[in-house]
Amino acid sequence: MESQTSQRVTAPSLSNDDVRFETTLRPADFAEFVGQENLKDNLAVFIEAARKRDEPLDHCLFYGPPGLGKTTLAHIIATEMRTDLIATSGPVIERAYDLTGILTNLKRGDVLFIDEIHRLQHVVEEYLYPAMEEFSVDIVLDKGPSARNVKLNLEHFTLVGATTRAGLLTSPLRSRFGVAQRLNYYNADELARIVTRSARILTVPIDDEGALEIARRSRGTPRIANRLLRRVRDFAEVMGDGHVTAEVAHESLLRLEVDERGLDEMDRRILEAVVHRFGGGPVGIKSLAVAVGEEAETIEEIYEPFLIQEGFLKRTPRGREATPSAHEYFGESPRSAVEPGAQSELL
Ligand SMILES: Nc1ncnc2c1ncn2[C@@H]1O[C@H](COP(=O)(O)OP(=O)(O)OP(=O)(O)O)[C@@H](O)[C@H]1O
Ligand SMILES: [Mg+2]
Repeated sequence: MESQTSQRVTAPSLSNDDVRFETTLRPADFAEFVGQENLKDNLAVFIEAARKRDEPLDHCLFYGPPGLGKTTLAHIIATEMRTDLIATSGPVIERAYDLTGILTNLKRGDVLFIDEIHRLQHVVEEYLYPAMEEFSVDIVLDKGPSARNVKLNLEHFTLVGATTRAGLLTSPLRSRFGVAQRLNYYNADELARIVTRSARILTVPIDDEGALEIARRSRGTPRIANRLLRRVRDFAEVMGDGHVTAEVAHESLLRLEVDERGLDEMDRRILEAVVHRFGGGPVGIKSLAVAVGEEAETIEEIYEPFLIQEGFLKRTPRGREATPSAHEYFGESPRSAVEPGAQSELL
């Protein structure tokens, strides 16, 4: 089944079009990084303490839905610690050997950023344990009878791991991070600040209401806010004088089929399936995936967290259930929506 997320304007994952803008729009330091106040405050303390002791920062793990700023934070840490960042990702490291070269080249305090860290091969992960804990790795010298293990000492580096699927991390790996922080969805005010900042960088004239209109429909996600801003800018330039007002934003988002709550077509399909086809649930994730034509994993990683956060969906031990808000979204009262005999099929 081909995932549909890549083509949607509200897909939280990185699209080709985003790549050009991500570096331009990426906040360079904590002062520019909007929101996540708790996380920022904590990190700032850890960084200051490490710098005072003239020590590298503890290993950090950032987890949470896509597009909320995990990669950005890794870069900010390197900037604030005045060190270099070396980036790689779980699926790219095929053998433990691939990691040896990277690890032995790290300088004291450098940030080794491993994106999608839940996708590390098991052997690679085990190879990482002593590197994280004792700053050493074992390598095998020579072959055959003269082969021997040699311990190589590494510089004290900081591993920053990022994952959208914290639940898939093994506990030995998780426990080796001194700092583990969850990133949460942003509220509309924070997203409006992000939109305003991005508009300034891209020299898009925008007023506060225009920024808020985009912010409200960005699924709590800065990456989506930035993308919607670029699309709305297109409409503003073609249909008007280029100025992004609330009306221009509203009209453009309507044409992009992003509704007032930021729900898009796939969100609506999911809700519609739970509410109507499965009588409000509970319905198992697999049945739901088949019903809407999307992969179960994508629903779990991308759609569901937002629908749960917005109070449309509930996760129960028996499956997914629609909340009263979901029924109201379709203009129904929760009770009347449950047709007799329309209870869920498979769990
Ligand atoms: N707190 C923030 N303030 C301002 N802009 C932000 C913030 N967080 C993220 N952004 C913007 O959103 C974009 C996406 O952020 P980032 O790449 O760090 O997300 P991510 O969590 O690493 O996503 P993924 O899980 O897909 O790798 C960045 O380029 C940046 O412009
Ligand atoms: Mg990232």
